[in-house]
Amino acid sequence: MALYSEKVMDHFTHPRNVGVIENADGIGEVGNAKCGDIMKIYLKIENEIIVDVKFETFGCGSAIASSSMATEMIKGKSIHEALQLSNRAVAEALDGLPAHKLHCSVLAEEAIKNALKDYYDRNNIPYDKKLFPDCANCAHCHE
Ligand code: FES
Repeated sequence: MALYSEKVMDHFTHPRNVGVIENADGIGEVGNAKCGDIMKIYLKIENEIIVDVKFETFGCGSAIASSSMATEMIKGKSIHEALQLSNRAVAEALDGLPAHKLHCSVLAEEAIKNALKDYYDRNNIPYDKKLFPDCANCAHCHE
């Protein structure tokens, strides 16, 4: 069996939603201390709907494919739905990632959550702190 699914290869070679949103309503940036990969997500939000999303990822193919798939999965969705997006859902949508590459999909989940947190903070919208565990201390990226 090939190491990477066709979907991973497709999103890696033809990533969707690459770029920057000027005047974004929320920006999230996360990095993985171990591999050094960095992911940045930009959100445009209107009436609690993610009307546009772009990403810049400096990282491995799985991180790029995960960013591409994750942005496709939250585009047009409400911010509440986007908050539910898990790295497992992103990996499943990609027809799986090798075990040692699952952390790449975690970056996508966390970058989106960070961008949503940024949106809440900018607009002084109260939120449950448990929704946004402190990335630096979270076991996810530092496994
Ligand atoms: Fe680190 Fe993929 S190897 S995000």
